[in-house]
Amino acid sequence: MSSGDTRKILVTGSSGFVGSWVSRILVQRGYAVRALYRRDQIPDHLRKTEELGAELQRRDLTCLEDVRAAVQEVEGVIHCAGLVKDWGYEQEFYAQNVEVTKRLVDEARRSGCGVFVFLSSLSVHGFGVHRGSTEEGPFYPYVSGYQSSKKAAEEYVLSQAAPGFRVTVLRSGNAYGPGDTTTFYRLFAILERGVRGTVSGSRVLTSPVYIEDLVEAIELALENDASAGEVFNICSGEEVTWGEMMQYCAELLGVRPWFELPIGLAWVAAYLFNSIYRLFRIKAEPPVFPYRVAHIAWDYNFSIEKARRILGYQPKTDWRTGLSRTVAAYKDFEKEQ
Ligand SMILES: NC(=O)c1ccc[n+]([C@@H]2O[C@H](COP(=O)([O-])OP(=O)(O)OC[C@H]3O[C@@H](n4cnc5c(N)ncnc54)[C@H](OP(=O)(O)O)[C@@H]3O)[C@@H](O)[C@H]2O)c1
Repeated sequence: MSSGDTRKILVTGSSGFVGSWVSRILVQRGYAVRALYRRDQIPDHLRKTEELGAELQRRDLTCLEDVRAAVQEVEGVIHCAGLVKDWGYEQEFYAQNVEVTKRLVDEARRSGCGVFVFLSSLSVHGFGVHRGSTEEGPFYPYVSGYQSSKKAAEEYVLSQAAPGFRVTVLRSGNAYGPGDTTTFYRLFAILERGVRGTVSGSRVLTSPVYIEDLVEAIELALENDASAGEVFNICSGEEVTWGEMMQYCAELLGVRPWFELPIGLAWVAAYLFNSIYRLFRIKAEPPVFPYRVAHIAWDYNFSIEKARRILGYQPKTDWRTGLSRTVAAYKDFEKEQ
């Protein structure tokens, strides 16, 4: 990367959880950032990033004209935008995650942008036993269009590498931290209602990554030529179970959840709800469904050896410290509501 005066780093999905952190931290580190959002109202956190010096643009990446405008005079793209849901229909995921990514990669390359970093997910490995799984596998069958769409998008991004156009895929673990209203804040709310967000004690491993560590990995990928054409697993590298994490969250919140589904019942309910909701094309999220159960039913632990070795990635925040910060931010957020 060269630090031109006018060329910028485009961060898509800056109104979302990951993109908001990426755009703010990059601006604080002196990058010229173009932060993209799509919703009607600019969120407060993005206003603050604008005050720090980011250029905000409202764009819908399903629209070709918007994509062309977004990549104008951009030196690097960090593509965080996407449809990020545990439940949804395949066509929706395909349109938002595959088609949008293809259009953005094509236009970025055409406009002379030099670096493209794509935020993917460890869930492209599928759910089955993962203990120290590497970028090479294993892979298991998918239970959601989210997984297949992220994998298809990854493949397209990697296929577009060319001289002068460096592409990198980062497969993030379960990102968490202050502002994570879609996943961890929801889990906290569930714990406060007495329900553990786990099944059968949940002694299976999971793969958290504190948001600032994820941003660190993104910046390393942006800056390091050795990341060209590579895929990296990005998580904390710790061995921690869902049960341990939820128990610690409950302690921090001062609650004692008492209800937890047994795994067998969770699977039956998941497939039942899945069939009914799909049969009647119900848009709302069912109370339980296969992706959510699968995510907490098997060990989900990945090696970050490749990211350490090639990118120099060194996660700094252990899960207890990260969760303490996240719960503290959640309590402030609750007070403001
Ligand atoms: N969070 C995690 O734990 C996690 C784990 C693994 C991978 N990832 C990956 O990290 C990325 C960011 O995730 P996140 O948790 O930050 O998701 P998020 O909070 O749901 O944010 C999604 C962002 O994408 C934007 N977006 C969606 N469709 C768009 C479109 N057609 N045009 C323009 N913008 C669009 C949204 O904009 P508006 O809200 O303004 O509409 C929002 O800013 C995703 O690619 C996801 O797959 C996340």
